[in-house]
Amino acid sequence: MNPQIEKLYTKANKAKRLIIGLMSGTSMDGLDIALCSVTGSGIKTNIEVLEFKTGDFSDDFRAKIKAVFSKRQVDLQLVCLMNEHIANVHAALINEALSEWGYKNEDVDFIASHGQTIFHAPKSLHKMDEYPNGTLQIGDGDHIAVKTGIITLSDFRQKHLAAGGEGAPLAVYGDFLMFSKQDEDRVMLNIGGIANFTYLPGSLNANEIFSTDVGPGNTLMDQYMQQHYNQFYDKNATTALAGELNKELLSTLLDCDFFEVGFPKTTGPELFNLDYLVNAQKKSSTENIEKENVMATLCHFSAETISNAIKKCFGNDASAYIFMSGGGMHNPLLVRLLKSKLPNCIFSTTSDLNIHPDAKEAVLFAVLANETLCGGQINFGERQGVPSICMGKISLPE
Ligand SMILES: Nc1ncnc2c1ncn2[C@@H]1O[C@H](COP(=O)(O)OP(=O)(O)O)[C@@H](O)[C@H]1O
Ligand SMILES: [Mg+2]
Repeated sequence: MNPQIEKLYTKANKAKRLIIGLMSGTSMDGLDIALCSVTGSGIKTNIEVLEFKTGDFSDDFRAKIKAVFSKRQVDLQLVCLMNEHIANVHAALINEALSEWGYKNEDVDFIASHGQTIFHAPKSLHKMDEYPNGTLQIGDGDHIAVKTGIITLSDFRQKHLAAGGEGAPLAVYGDFLMFSKQDEDRVMLNIGGIANFTYLPGSLNANEIFSTDVGPGNTLMDQYMQQHYNQFYDKNATTALAGELNKELLSTLLDCDFFEVGFPKTTGPELFNLDYLVNAQKKSSTENIEKENVMATLCHFSAETISNAIKKCFGNDASAYIFMSGGGMHNPLLVRLLKSKLPNCIFSTTSDLNIHPDAKEAVLFAVLANETLCGGQINFGERQGVPSICMGKISLPE
């Protein structure tokens, strides 16, 4: 047997595994790095987050990603180079984090790498019958494996596409294993660039759970701040709080086919971008309103799409337990609006479930990798969007 395969086998057989989960979402704010200690698999998965940090991206690196991000036309040479460059930057951030935390690379059993999404094109976006759903994450796992010396699982989304899904959201798998609770209906709401939620029924019936994107989380607000204020995001909603809701603009923003598509569905900045906003401003003759009012309206737009989706699932007087995660939960206006639109829901964050809310998505990939290595027995039934599969390609360091 190739000694690398033997090593893989031995590590997958360990009673306790150290797995680094990685996530960099559409916000491109940084690389979330979660060092997790994992035992068991399936519904017996037990995960402890030992260390967490977000490795910062330099402005230069961010600009390089943006040059190939969510655009129909890009420089193909740059895409080719960025596939390795992103992995190199991620590997360097991992190596730095490990030495900061006092771990040696050989202490870590596996890395679970999401990569950087550069385009997400479900059929609901491209609308071409002869093509399947598509999504593309770059930052290849082979480069991470070689540059960290750690066996790396990566590119989780392609298998989901192959099995008939849209490649997202994958939260359904990890949320079920980490956060389901008997007799309590839970909603795990992640507000990243895009907002998504997972419904976890108290019946613990894997056939009933599902996960869906609902629309923009922070992405439109971030893009507007970057374009018009030269700031990366609206910290603590300072700008949005200085403005007022414009109802005409809000109702035009809400007028989009995507919101009529049934669950589960997925989306991205390929749809929700500044062109989308400019078109809505033209249609509603609100091109000249104050910038603060645009920001306030965008924040209302996110709150409205999230709360509408939850009401669609659970009725107008929805009364679920909502556990938030992702950067949007730090936006005080967004959270205040959500609470007022869903008065019967009980809001808390995943820290009440022992997972740091900023780390949640990264931890999720550690769980997916663990399932591929040590589990793979869960049956989610035959529903569209939740195939019963294990995901991730395995890259060996040598
Ligand atoms: N204090 C804050 N106030 C307002 N927004 C915040 C705050 N902290 C984080 N955010 C938002 O969260 C985003 C990052 O969220 P994250 O969950 O990392 O998204 P992604 O998964 O897309 O990377 C930032 O770009 C910003 O919009
Ligand atoms: Mg992020």
